[in-house]
Amino acid sequence: MSLAERTYRVLVGFGARHRLCEVLPVGATKAAIVTQEGIPWAVDAGIEQRSFLIDDGEDAKNLETVEELCRGFARWGLTRADVVVAVGGGMVTDVAGFAAAAYHRGTAVVHVSTTLLGQVDAAIGGKTGVNLPEGKNLVGAFWQPSAVLCDIETLGTLPVREQRSGRGEMAKYAFLGVDGLRDMALDEAVAACVACKARIVGSDERESGERALLNYGHTLAHAVETVGHYNLRHGEAVAVGLVFAARLARRLGRIDDQRVRDHEDLICAYGLPDRLPEGVEAPALMAAMAHDKKVTGGGFTFVLDGPAGLQVVKGVDPAAVGDTLAEMR
Ligand code: GLY
Repeated sequence: MSLAERTYRVLVGFGARHRLCEVLPVGATKAAIVTQEGIPWAVDAGIEQRSFLIDDGEDAKNLETVEELCRGFARWGLTRADVVVAVGGGMVTDVAGFAAAAYHRGTAVVHVSTTLLGQVDAAIGGKTGVNLPEGKNLVGAFWQPSAVLCDIETLGTLPVREQRSGRGEMAKYAFLGVDGLRDMALDEAVAACVACKARIVGSDERESGERALLNYGHTLAHAVETVGHYNLRHGEAVAVGLVFAARLARRLGRIDDQRVRDHEDLICAYGLPDRLPEGVEAPALMAAMAHDKKVTGGGFTFVLDGPAGLQVVKGVDPAAVGDTLAEMR
């Protein structure tokens, strides 16, 4: 992973967590391991280490958890020369990454990512943050990790639905330039998605341009999650969002039937939903999308496929959005 100011290693493979010692910052003498009770993966930093447990779920992804972590780090005597190690999924890497960004105005963090969703998205690219009562991920920082370990061994123990959900996030990379994703072995697929994300983030860390393309399928996905009260897992909602985005692009004359089928076939091959769930109605989805931070005045904004590949398209006619939602039943 290469950014203007520095480069960090992302190791993908079975048992990658055992390589933690190799990637710790030089000079660190203490490692604060941030993880959750249900995460069974132990890591050995090879230096003095202590575990800091955070609660599970979106409710615990808040400033109070960050404060508790930072106070724990301070009581233990962690310094800016030391390291925070996040072991878990996206929630853990987001919270631990933000605590590391804030602690002593910036302490190194290494992510040991244990979920597919985390490996192909949250652990890579330095977005960290927590929720406020007013909304998700409203407080955060761009704080790049010192290294990321994507341990394929940890994926095998995830519940089947969780593994499938991760494929929804993975599927977007097939339309961002990763060819042959469907036929790749899991470690190869994770590495290809990481390389794709790294290339994009390397050219646009702060999302002033190309990085927004990583939100492909996410505008509807976020709305489906909100309106459906999180009955769908994130990757499942992204799968629905990808098919919707393809159909919307076809309606707008940007892509043909075959390209829509490419989307549907991949989602189907991954065993993911390609239709809106029951009880999630179009007016509520339209309202939720209108509140999404990626929606600006004069119509909706979506990442859409087209002759030149994915692009951010502004001013999409609400009637086209409503008609495409009706197609998704
Ligand atoms: N999850 C999208 C990004 O990291 O930009």
